[in-house]
Amino acid sequence: MGIEVVVENLSKSFGSQNIWRNVSLTLPAGEVSALLGPSGTGKSVFLKALIGLLRPERGSIWIDGTDIMTCTPKELYEIRKMFGVLFQDGALFGSMDLYDNVAFPLREHTKKSEAEIRRIVMEKLELVGLQGADGKLPGEISGGMRKRAGLARALVLDPQIILVDEPDSGLDPVRTTYISQLFLDINAQIDATFLIVTHNINLARTVPDNIGMLFRRELTMFGPREVLLTSEEPVVEQFLNGRMIGPIGMSEEKDEAQMAHEQALADAGHHAGGVDNIEGIVPQLQATPGMPFRQAVRRRQERVRTILPSLPARAQAAILADDAFAQL
Ligand SMILES: Nc1ncnc2c1ncn2[C@@H]1O[C@H](COP(=O)(O)OP(=O)(O)OP(=O)(O)O)[C@@H](O)[C@H]1O
Ligand SMILES: [Mg+2]
Repeated sequence: MGIEVVVENLSKSFGSQNIWRNVSLTLPAGEVSALLGPSGTGKSVFLKALIGLLRPERGSIWIDGTDIMTCTPKELYEIRKMFGVLFQDGALFGSMDLYDNVAFPLREHTKKSEAEIRRIVMEKLELVGLQGADGKLPGEISGGMRKRAGLARALVLDPQIILVDEPDSGLDPVRTTYISQLFLDINAQIDATFLIVTHNINLARTVPDNIGMLFRRELTMFGPREVLLTSEEPVVEQFLNGRMIGPIGMSEEKDEAQMAHEQALADAGHHAGGVDNIEGIVPQLQATPGMPFRQAVRRRQERVRTILPSLPARAQAAILADDAFAQL
């Protein structure tokens, strides 16, 4: 089963620039969580902190009983082997073909034979739809293909924690849906804990069990998907609908005067962006029929049942209206 990740009061600055402070959240073991937030709010920095690539000044990150903020380099090295990471830019080695890129973690961290490595690499390349592209260099393929190659590489060690940074960037809408389905199928098969950073509203609404959002240097919320998807917080509504009206601006801080100006433009008939009025819950994607049952579903329901009374009324109503919730 996947591993729980517990983050307590984490704060990160670069020099005098505070990125976020007092971030606390638990990624429940084996569940799929997503982190949303406008550009520049520190989502990628957060992922890098979780694997110990960047060091926050304060707080704890508990992974499998070890606080990686205080552990030894050797312990951190061992903990890192539990992770599969898809970085925002794919982070492939430009001089290696896709085969060698995907094989890299296996050669680095295991003693598997080349025959065994070939079997795994080909299986993972096929899983992400890149069969036949193993001899290509990263510079010879499209951005979306690089992204999928990065995902194949993140999966080769059968990780217990999978971090993905904007899997949809560079992918067309159809491939984004395929990759969304792939995440849930992988979750059903290996029961790994997922954290997906995304700007993609369709993905955020249909994939994760839990959703959080970073805004103005804080974790605005984190919890079962129903909490954020039914939230009436202006920042959440604006983000989910991709509108200009609301607290998020082109640069992050939008002042009152700017908000009033934009509202006046919208009132006068100027299009504020966004294509339709998205609100409420749509059903979550399920693992493809024939896949193992996604154990996270049952565990999440048990967990949500215990915290139900503490959730906002709209989230409670949405959870109770879900037939799947009533069945288990
Ligand atoms: N190594 C670094 N040194 C200094 N500042 C950094 C470093 N990495 C990130 N930052 C700063 O931290 C802030 C958050 O960056 P981050 O890449 O985490 O944003 P993000 O939420 O992932 O944005 P996007 O949605 O555009 O990917 C930015 O202001 C960025 O300039
Ligand atoms: Mg980022």
